[in-house]
Amino acid sequence: MRAVQTYLESFHLSLEKLQEVSARLRKDLIRGLGKHSHHRAAVKMLPTFVRATPDGTEKGDFLALDLGGTNFRVLHVRVMEEEQKVLKMDSQICAIPQEMMLGTGEQLFDHIADCLGKFLDSQNLKEQTLPLGFTFSFPCEQKEIDKSILIRWTKGFNCSGVEGRDVVQLLKEAIHRRGDYDIGSVAMVNDTVGTMMSCGYKDQSCEIGMIIGTGTNACYMEEMKNVRRVEGEDGRMCINTEWGGFGDDGSLRDVLTEFDLVVDRTSINPGVHTFEKMISGMYLGEIVRLLLLRLTDDQLLFGGRTSETLRTPGKFQTKFISEIEEEDDGLDNAQNILTELGLKWDEVDVRVVRLVCDAVSSRSARLCAAALATLVNRIRVNRGRGHLKTTVGVDGTVYRKHPNFSEELQATVRLLAPDCSITFRVSEDGSGKGAAMVTAVAQRLALQSRLLEDSDGDEEEEEEEEEEDD
Ligand code: GLC
Repeated sequence: MRAVQTYLESFHLSLEKLQEVSARLRKDLIRGLGKHSHHRAAVKMLPTFVRATPDGTEKGDFLALDLGGTNFRVLHVRVMEEEQKVLKMDSQICAIPQEMMLGTGEQLFDHIADCLGKFLDSQNLKEQTLPLGFTFSFPCEQKEIDKSILIRWTKGFNCSGVEGRDVVQLLKEAIHRRGDYDIGSVAMVNDTVGTMMSCGYKDQSCEIGMIIGTGTNACYMEEMKNVRRVEGEDGRMCINTEWGGFGDDGSLRDVLTEFDLVVDRTSINPGVHTFEKMISGMYLGEIVRLLLLRLTDDQLLFGGRTSETLRTPGKFQTKFISEIEEEDDGLDNAQNILTELGLKWDEVDVRVVRLVCDAVSSRSARLCAAALATLVNRIRVNRGRGHLKTTVGVDGTVYRKHPNFSEELQATVRLLAPDCSITFRVSEDGSGKGAAMVTAVAQRLALQSRLLEDSDGDEEEEEEEEEEDD
């Protein structure tokens, strides 16, 4: 067991280390926000042009698209002011085949336009031009709420001809190529932003959105005066941190293990999204697999004999970790999973495998806690408060499905940000309903500013008339 512990120790991060990590991220946030320093920043800190959270008066019917995980979804959403509710009227899932994730951008967007067309047909909505919220969960340089340039693909996507292009334009072009339906105004949304906004309709103190699923990321409301890249000093803007890129400049070198280095090297985007690769669902299973292989090679597991399946990348799924760590059935689940993987195990092996899973998922939860602590502390200092009460909207399979991930994360944030009381709200379908909410808030703001402009105009006209009377 001692030899096993030696491997697992490198996954244990002390509170002091987590404090250091949190302090490093704090510096990176500042660099990412800077007018000149952001080009070189590992943590991109992207302005989202979402300037307000919901105020509860939003309403109407919307379409939402959600692309970012393994599936693509189309939704019809109704925001109901009277009941303060966001209703999902209907939705449809379309699979994105692996070849398409690695094919051309044109194929991908034609597929999206096709799924949307079929959905509109089935709902008899083709004749209407509804506003559309597009949850596109990749790092984008947003120029406006409806202009969003993909910086780079992450999480297993790598379609050609999309990086550096405006995603709204690509979607509209694909729809026009068909010519059988149209869409109204478009709002581009990262899934973190959707998550924050979908919680924000009910709980207006929700100012952070966090995802721990296939990938990991968070957004929060930053003071405009600190967002140097966007004109204006007043109010706030939601910033998509893209914290998955934390460490891409080498700043996490001391916390990376040899297993993390292999995961990175064998990924389709080496050197990119270092933090994400230590934390999110796309990679956790693979880290465990590599650890199990190493322990077996060192004769510490399965009598030194691996299996063909265990030697195959991707075969130890992240969901196995959750199943193995379940309190009551975990050991039974582990036995079944190991048998499925073609391994010959004994009682001790099963317990060791559970320890390995725990080390990997625990590190993930604690690292997320360190990053979240950085955000809540920043909001607290921004507002000049000794104590901050805030809400975080959360989504993602790792957070939702793992038996004790959320508990460990919350307990660790409490230690790292003792001056903040945080309420965690699991977002109900942030990527769908949240996208509609962002679109609804954008419409409300546009309407308000149009009303303002109109009333300015009226005054001018009146003044002119008065002059004429004179
Ligand atoms: C990846 C994407 C990011 C997204 C996150 C969670 O990190 O780059 O935009 O929010 O995954 O889905």
